Amino acid sequence: MYEILENEILAPNLHRLTVKAPRVAGARKPGQFVIVRADRGDERIPLTIGDADPAAGTVTLFIQAIGASTRKIVNIPVGGALRDVAGPLGQPTHIENWGRVACIGGGVGTAVLFPLARALAEAGNEVTTVIGGRSEQYIILADELAAFSAEVLITTEDGSRGRKGFVTHALADLIADPARAPKVVLAVGPVPMMRAVAELTRPHGIETVVSLNPIMIDGTGMCGGCRVVVGGESKFACVDGPEFDGHLVDFEGLSDRLTTYRSFEEQARHAATE
Ligand code: FES
Repeated sequence: MYEILENEILAPNLHRLTVKAPRVAGARKPGQFVIVRADRGDERIPLTIGDADPAAGTVTLFIQAIGASTRKIVNIPVGGALRDVAGPLGQPTHIENWGRVACIGGGVGTAVLFPLARALAEAGNEVTTVIGGRSEQYIILADELAAFSAEVLITTEDGSRGRKGFVTHALADLIADPARAPKVVLAVGPVPMMRAVAELTRPHGIETVVSLNPIMIDGTGMCGGCRVVVGGESKFACVDGPEFDGHLVDFEGLSDRLTTYRSFEEQARHAATE
């Protein structure tokens, strides 16, 4: 059992959990994830490891309560426990000093972005962070990201914080400015957002990495649930990813697979509330 030491609400339906998991805390690298279950027989939920404290033996997990299983997890109180925390899984983020890097986070994707952006800054990159959300209450981790970013640009769809619009508007301005144009872009967020970022950078030849979060079941490359097509080849996000070249990802196919499971999730949600 993995004790929950903290459970904090960051934004509507978004929680930050601090969980006692010493082995994972000691082994994890930025970009890796764990698969958690609240109880035996429950759905397995992949979660990026947002941070880790090997000395304390804890990991920080960000979780969006969007379905029956994730709601069950965020409702576990401090002092309660998760049944499983399996990992670390996936390939660590490829980190090098490229010089100027733009890190783009959309909604809860900002939580996934956080450890990657920090690792890039620690490697000597000048990191410009762009974070966006529907409105102010969906903007998360701005202060934490500002601690190591050269600048943090905020966009909201309703203009309630920062610039009114989308992260791609802010990124387009960065690209157009020779003094701030990134050599590499890293994007994490909803599929349409990552796709828009990749299409924006493509004509400029700017290397673009996206972190995918498809349906995952076993997390070990056995079930095929997380299959994505990248550069015409089938890849498993759990073992080959979760990060891929954004210019090669078949976003169309990825969107189709994600919507396939939505009706099942609806059924589970109704069953849980009846
Ligand atoms: Fe099963 Fe990736 S989650 S193959």
